[in-house]
Amino acid sequence: MKFTLSCSLGLVSLICASNTVAAPLTRRTPVTLQVLNDSVDQKLGCSTTQIETLEGALTDAKNVAAGAATTLGAANVLSSEGVQTFLGSITAAQLAAQIPIRFTSVGTGLSGTLTQITDLVAGNSDQTLRFYCPAETTTEAEGNPCSAQSDAVAENLAEGSINKIALCPNFFGGGSITSDKASYLVSKAAGKLTSFNAPRNPGHILIHEAQHSVPLLGGSAANILEDISADAKPTSCVALNKKKRALNAENWALVSFLAEVDAGRLAAPCTGTSAKRAVGACALPSSSTSAAKTTTTAVVPPKTATPVAPPPSAVTAKPPPVAVPKPAAPAKPPTAPKPASTSKPSLIKGLLGKIF
Ligand SMILES: *[C@@H]1O[C@H](CO)[C@@H](O)[C@H](O)[C@H]1NC(C)=O
Repeated sequence: MKFTLSCSLGLVSLICASNTVAAPLTRRTPVTLQVLNDSVDQKLGCSTTQIETLEGALTDAKNVAAGAATTLGAANVLSSEGVQTFLGSITAAQLAAQIPIRFTSVGTGLSGTLTQITDLVAGNSDQTLRFYCPAETTTEAEGNPCSAQSDAVAENLAEGSINKIALCPNFFGGGSITSDKASYLVSKAAGKLTSFNAPRNPGHILIHEAQHSVPLLGGSAANILEDISADAKPTSCVALNKKKRALNAENWALVSFLAEVDAGRLAAPCTGTSAKRAVGACALPSSSTSAAKTTTTAVVPPKTATPVAPPPSAVTAKPPPVAVPKPAAPAKPPTAPKPASTSKPSLIKGLLGKIF
């Protein structure tokens, strides 16, 4: 979140994702959720209060993900303003293939019982997901992947680390769905349909991180999405060209947020009778389309556009593209080196335009 990249494979994984989304999601054993407490490890462990916040966030994330899966499963949702705005040129088939991964699997994975552990590394497995809470004073060398801008950082066993999500100090900043919704509604009333404040509630952050987390994505690293927008602000997420929007983790998190706070934006447009409109079965035309176009260049505080150093994993993610709000052609984004194990630049370049 906030461009604390999860360690992941880079563009190669995106291409793999595109090639495998149509495959049925194999049902695996449930994800075991664990949290490192601070009984033994005070540098990385979570306090009792932090664990309570995490538990609330897990509940929120599970509910929001389930709601998103239902809302996006409705007929003709592809033509809704919200899907068009945040997922760009995704097709109906692609959307149908992604929902079980990005929301259903994620919601199920986050609904397991959270148990406490005292050693972050010992006994981890591909079905285990561990949360931990690096203290602000804990250094990178001591295992803290957070930067000042980070909300959380996800890493994966499949990429040479372990399945874990660092909950950074910002994660505990006090946001809630209620406060995010109130803020959103104020922005919406002002016509800011794509320039509302980035949601801050910890459940939202978990849904974002889940898009980087192999155990939550059905066990397949091919399903990992990267952070490819300049930052996590809605304006930046819709500034991506239409082919790239569904490849950006935060765009999916934002769609789930809309499903929670303003599901009307995810309803198919009204085509027929006024009776249908009256019962709210479809969305009335609104100024949303023009708003979406005119607000993409709204104020973006420069500090949040600063790419954050990737976590110190053996296989680190690339930094996000540097503050170019409107990528040109679907060429390879201007990024730093990719993991050596996955480098096939010419292949990437050739395939990227076909992903969505
Ligand atoms: C931390 O976790 C261990 C292992 O589950 C448990 O025995 C211990 O009581 C926990 N500490 C706190 C403070 O809850």
